[in-house]
Amino acid sequence: MATSLRPYERFAEVYDKITPDEFYAEYYDFILKILKEMNYKPKKTLDLACGTGRLAKIFLDEGYDIEGLDISEKMLEIAKSRAKNLKVYQSNMIDFNLGKKYDLIVCTYDSINYILQEASLQKCFNSVSKHLNQEGVFIFDMNSVFKINKVLPEYKADYYDFGDAELIWLNSHSHEPDLWIGEVILFKKTEEGKYERYYEKYIERAFELNTTKKLLKAANFEILETYSDFEFNKIKKDSKRWFFVTKKKTN
Ligand SMILES: C[S@@+](CC[C@H](N)C(=O)[O-])C[C@H]1O[C@@H](n2cnc3c(N)ncnc32)[C@H](O)[C@@H]1O
Repeated sequence: MATSLRPYERFAEVYDKITPDEFYAEYYDFILKILKEMNYKPKKTLDLACGTGRLAKIFLDEGYDIEGLDISEKMLEIAKSRAKNLKVYQSNMIDFNLGKKYDLIVCTYDSINYILQEASLQKCFNSVSKHLNQEGVFIFDMNSVFKINKVLPEYKADYYDFGDAELIWLNSHSHEPDLWIGEVILFKKTEEGKYERYYEKYIERAFELNTTKKLLKAANFEILETYSDFEFNKIKKDSKRWFFVTKKKTN
């Protein structure tokens, strides 16, 4: 029997090997272009669902004052080992309370899709709003309804060999619309040359564009722009990744 774990526990140790550095550089460049366009220079930034801190590390190296928050202890351990001067918080992004405010909060790589209920997404947006200074900016992306319902179900299984571990990534689509299920089976070589098997399950939920906008507005956000797929293009029916650029309204 495989040991069944919460998401991003054992997978954390191989997570970084799956996504190339260029992907994070692309995020950084895109966010920087957005900030430049807005002529906005944040003093304090929070990377929400920061994972192993790869994006936060780029911000740090570029001289930004950034902190990270994630629910997974293992992901945060890696983030800390990557950037010793990165302050991180282990917390649930749905309902966090750090007792401080930021000028910019970013949340990338479809982390928002891990929130599965509309009421929870509202709570998350409320928490983000609470942690922003007046006119503070919140930039995030999410996998689109099209990607969750039409693109991801078409993906076949992936196999990775890392030498001391092997991984099978399955896209076992849910039969419910707007939900995607990913399954990870990790085989980890023991000192005796045998394998331990770990299983983790991932669920992402797609939210309609109008629902997302409604929840943002209810959390006191003005939606400045929506973009798609790392381009300054408007969202189309077949856009896969939606970007939201929002600003906390002055009271
Ligand atoms: C796809 S990873 C993205 C991580 C990071 N942003 C990156 O770009 O590599 C999703 C992250 O969301 C985190 N996460 C999922 N649900 C969360 C929650 N409710 N609160 C905080 N973090 C959460 C996971 O632990 C994981 O690190």
